[in-house]
Amino acid sequence: MEEVETLYKSLSTMNLYIKKEFSKILLKFKKTTIQERGRGMKKIELEELHSKIFQLKEKYGGNNSAILQTLIDLQEEYRELSQVVLQEVAHAYNVHPAEIQGTASFYSFLKTEEKYGKYIVRLCRTISCELKGKERIAKQLENELGIKFGETTSDGMFTLEYCNCLGMCDQGPAIMVDGCLIPKVKPAHVPAIIDSCRRGALNQEFDTTIVSNVVKKGPLLTEEFYPGKVITDSLGKTSEEILEMIEKSELRGRGGAGFSTGLKWKLAAKEESPQKFVICNADEGEPGTFKDRYILHREVHRVIEGMTIAARCIGANKGYIYLRGEYSYLKDMIEDAIIARKEKGLLGDKIGGLEGFDFDIDIRMGAGAYICGEETALIESLEGKRGEPRNRPPYPVDTGFMNNPTIVNNVETFLNVTLICEKGVEFFKEYGTSRSTGTKFFSVSGDIEKAGIYELPFGITIAQLMKEVGCRDAKAVQVGGAAGVCIPSRDFDKIIAYEAIPTGGSIIIFNDKRDMLDIAQNFMEFFVDESCGQCTPCREGTTKILEGIKILKQGKCSIAYLNKLKELAKTVEMASKCGLGQLSMKAFLSIVNNFQDEVLGRLPKEGSYETV
Ligand SMILES: Cc1cc2nc3c(=O)[nH]c(=O)nc-3n(C[C@H](O)[C@H](O)[C@H](O)COP(=O)(O)O)c2cc1C
Ligand code: SF4
Repeated sequence: MEEVETLYKSLSTMNLYIKKEFSKILLKFKKTTIQERGRGMKKIELEELHSKIFQLKEKYGGNNSAILQTLIDLQEEYRELSQVVLQEVAHAYNVHPAEIQGTASFYSFLKTEEKYGKYIVRLCRTISCELKGKERIAKQLENELGIKFGETTSDGMFTLEYCNCLGMCDQGPAIMVDGCLIPKVKPAHVPAIIDSCRRGALNQEFDTTIVSNVVKKGPLLTEEFYPGKVITDSLGKTSEEILEMIEKSELRGRGGAGFSTGLKWKLAAKEESPQKFVICNADEGEPGTFKDRYILHREVHRVIEGMTIAARCIGANKGYIYLRGEYSYLKDMIEDAIIARKEKGLLGDKIGGLEGFDFDIDIRMGAGAYICGEETALIESLEGKRGEPRNRPPYPVDTGFMNNPTIVNNVETFLNVTLICEKGVEFFKEYGTSRSTGTKFFSVSGDIEKAGIYELPFGITIAQLMKEVGCRDAKAVQVGGAAGVCIPSRDFDKIIAYEAIPTGGSIIIFNDKRDMLDIAQNFMEFFVDESCGQCTPCREGTTKILEGIKILKQGKCSIAYLNKLKELAKTVEMASKCGLGQLSMKAFLSIVNNFQDEVLGRLPKEGSYETV
């Protein structure tokens, strides 16, 4: 069988059609197995693999939205997605093998190469974990395992990898070992973590409970919620009346862009189509943002209720919660909530006994790609493809999932919808500004004691926010994550609102010991890593600016060079295809503009991060 496998692999450079046919012949060897390759990999019995794929396809509904889930589950089973596995998935879904290969190679949590160990230790390198001493954790991991990041131990047990934001910014530094998240890691914990893995006892020996640090609950979350209340209470209203209420609330999407929720729903409602979809964007990957993690953990019924209301307003009968792979520990809990609601008639056919009010929700997992938070990339991913943003127009409201009218909204937006229906438009509009109504969940991290979630009204100044979080020595605040702007303390009288400084919720605080170019570098490394690579300005531009930041850090900067870099950054903003590229330069530009004194006349130094 080894020879057959070798021959099969050698076909990789040949015509994919031949390869496809060859793999069909392989299936005829009923009892044949493909040899296990060590590292805890399970033997692949072709017949068993075949039936497993068909079971998964059925479990996930049979359409292409099952592809990514099938790959994730097969990886869990076999530890790696070998060529044979990918081929069989391609056959089962009747898509070209090259497409499946393309999908599998896109996501950082999918392993298509034979280079990984049994345990992949992923250390979050995003800014909040960096500020809390990630470097020392990295050092100790390398010391314990005798390998560098990107390498695998010779016994095939461990691979060390960096990853981008794990959504644990209030509890960093954080690592993830095979889906198990460990917050607040200290260098002294590292030997015990490694030892636990070796004994297969990580889950039992390490407290991986996720704490939801809600420091301040605002007006919208202070009351108990009874699942189904809003749906039942609104049965007497027509879908048009409910939609009108959402429009009157002037709710703007909480995912960052601030688009009017009422308008988006109205456009989707107008479309005539037998199938429409409601998608909850739970891909929260913006560095410094973890509020959706909290909302899903503690308020999942309110979110599902909001999705159900949306379905009624636009006439959808199917919904998906696209949950980022880093939050896989929330999946069972969300699933339980969905099941409980089905049992109570709050999901399924004739919700609340209302004829035609049919709506069901499935969870779909992401697999480690920040770009999949962008709504068209999310839809592509949901269709089993690479998460590459689409050209717009057409927009998802008319041409979304499987080319059907689709609305995509953030977790917090759905939460707000439920609250508006529950407490009324007037109550909601008591908070915020005239152009940014309501409150906002801020995820606050960085150089402060009380990192966590704060629900505060839009329109709050940064100075007021600093007072709320008990911070007196902030030198700068990054509002909106890596895609946001860096505000120096002299501008703390500015307000946070869509019409002023917008944010999806990320607030990262830097004290006066921080080197602003270190921060700019961290953000740019994030974009270089997360750019989907589809368009040149973003793919090449982020890399060039990163090189430029490194040169600035060496103190080799004339004003002419700095101006050239700024010009290039503006070109990237203008010429990039999607929001990632368009927003990737904001942090860099605001840092070099607001902290020019740190950039010019600079002396080179080493290892500038300190731990707190
Ligand atoms: C690179 C990128 C990443 C994004 N990530 C998210 C995300 O994680 N969650 C989210 O709700 N919106 C995210 N968005 C915004 C979405 O494209 C979309 O605007 C949002 O889901 C719409 O929901 P809302 O109107 O309720 O905010 C992202 C946008 C870009 C460009
Ligand atoms: S801007 Fe960047 S992330 Fe967006 S499509 Fe272009 S390469 Fe991809």
